[in-house]
Amino acid sequence: MEDKIYIPVTGVQVSDLFDWSDPVQKCKQKTVVMQRGLARQTSQTGSVVECNEEKIALFRYHRQVYAIRERCPHAGGPLHLGDIEDLPGGGLCVRCPWHSWRFDLDTGQVKMPKGRKVTAKVFPVKVKPDGSLLIGFDKFADVYFSIETDF
Ligand code: FES
Repeated sequence: MEDKIYIPVTGVQVSDLFDWSDPVQKCKQKTVVMQRGLARQTSQTGSVVECNEEKIALFRYHRQVYAIRERCPHAGGPLHLGDIEDLPGGGLCVRCPWHSWRFDLDTGQVKMPKGRKVTAKVFPVKVKPDGSLLIGFDKFADVYFSIETDF
């Protein structure tokens, strides 16, 4: 039995997300990077959304969407600006743009460098037939249950 609360993402559909499985999109992205002389992709890769009081980076791979807490657990880097890479043995990871740590997008575990004990928070995502997205949480954010005392 699933024990997550799924909350709709507002303003972003699956079709709005950069598709890392599409070689044409990836090729165009590399061209933009070369024309600007940048070493890394800096836009059009991941997207940041706010949902349940969390800033979350979303990455699309075909019809699958991955969600990971936007702030890198190492030193706070912007994970939505990271590249997606294949993991040896299957699966995908995001490479943080600041120090290149790689986080498994299924588990949040650090895959590189080895031996790191921190884990990025990942969230399950459902893609509805109409392309809208739902992100799964263990609970509603505490702020929804705070009591206003200024009367
Ligand atoms: S801030 Fe992400 S790897 Fe250092």
